[in-house]
Amino acid sequence: MFPIVDKPLIQYAVEEAVAAGADKLIFVTAADKRGIEDHFDVDAELERALEESGKAELLASVRGILPSSASCIFLRQGIPLGLGHAVLCARPAVGDEPFYVHLPDDLIYSATPCLEQMRNHYERHGGSVLAVQTVPDERTASYGIVAVHEQASGAREITGIVEKPKPEDAPSNLAVVGRYLLTPGIFDKLQTTRRGAGNEIQLTDGIASLMEEETVHALAFEGVRYDCGTKLGYLRALVEYGLRDTQVGQAFGTYLDERNQPTR
Ligand code: G1P
Repeated sequence: MFPIVDKPLIQYAVEEAVAAGADKLIFVTAADKRGIEDHFDVDAELERALEESGKAELLASVRGILPSSASCIFLRQGIPLGLGHAVLCARPAVGDEPFYVHLPDDLIYSATPCLEQMRNHYERHGGSVLAVQTVPDERTASYGIVAVHEQASGAREITGIVEKPKPEDAPSNLAVVGRYLLTPGIFDKLQTTRRGAGNEIQLTDGIASLMEEETVHALAFEGVRYDCGTKLGYLRALVEYGLRDTQVGQAFGTYLDERNQPTR
């Protein structure tokens, strides 16, 4: 629920997913995360008050929180057993079809929403798709890291994936970021995945076993990623989205310029 200028991160996540064709939004949350459910709830009283007081712009933004094409399912991950376990919790709600996994801490700014780029890739090449980005060697221990093989079609097939390897053990410096398009085959794999790095059930390990049967591709997406799970990434996102804001962007830019002038 951390806001970036005037919307919580989870709202950016929903907008990206809906733009990429998602119509069923499954939130896997934890015990203290009721604010997420409240955010997407309809507040009929607030809408009526805004309507009566003629606040059309505010009313439109409240009504636009959740597009009418989308429905929400909220699930609790009772015990924090890792990302793989969180994805498995969603199995009954997902059913037997390909689905996106979106980690809202990773905010991606791009002309074409990242998940849409992934769907386009899936429609062209099939298989599961993981969004990847090059990271400095010393950062491999914070990510799932992949080895890839370039196919004749130009698609990059993943030939190996390791969760948070030390730089000396990393197969490359191509890191998985918080966007996945997965086939439902992943669920059977996760069902039998044992605890891995950090003593958690890792999505990375489930994907490693999915790769034995199905193709998994890496997509170096177009766009800028802000890791809002870190202080610096969050601050960068605030500044960049602040500067792009249609209402306050210009004034904010002037403020930053003035702030950077040497004092007389
Ligand atoms: C998770 C995944 C990791 C991936 C990362 C992307 O890690 O386990 O493979 O690279 O998200 O943000 P976490 O950041 O939850 O530790």
